[in-house]
Amino acid sequence: MKILMVCLGNICRSPLAEGILRSKVEKNKLDWEIDSAGTSGWHSGEKPDQRSVDVALQHGIDISKQSSRKFYDFDIERFDLIYAMDVHNYNDIIKHCKNEIEKQKVKLILNELFPNENRSVPDPYYGGAQGFKKVYDMLNEACENIVEQYK
Ligand code: 4NP
Repeated sequence: MKILMVCLGNICRSPLAEGILRSKVEKNKLDWEIDSAGTSGWHSGEKPDQRSVDVALQHGIDISKQSSRKFYDFDIERFDLIYAMDVHNYNDIIKHCKNEIEKQKVKLILNELFPNENRSVPDPYYGGAQGFKKVYDMLNEACENIVEQYK
């Protein structure tokens, strides 16, 4: 299974989602490939936001070695599942899909927790540490459901 996590900057939410899912994949000894990307490319080459690094470390996960990259068209072919963090990211990715099969690969990550509700992971960038904690908890539960569903 190849899974890509996508947000706007690839420095706050999707790096956390990548780190959390990878840690669960390792615990379950699954041979899955996990990556993340940002629709904007504004922060390409940067490390994750320190507040994401901190909240992950509080849960024993090191995401500090990740590097932001832009989402590209060919990611849709390369990955089996593409999880958008919010509705804007979802719409941006869907625009790049060539057919219905590709569209089916793209999902809102919180639909794994609240099916069919189309909720967005709030963007914590302009807030404080509390927002990052909330995002961590949501992503942790959603990633748990992803592993249980596809393992
Ligand atoms: P992310 O958060 O999409 O979760 O990585 C953001 C990071 C940077 C910006 C916005 C959101 N920005 O405006 O630079």
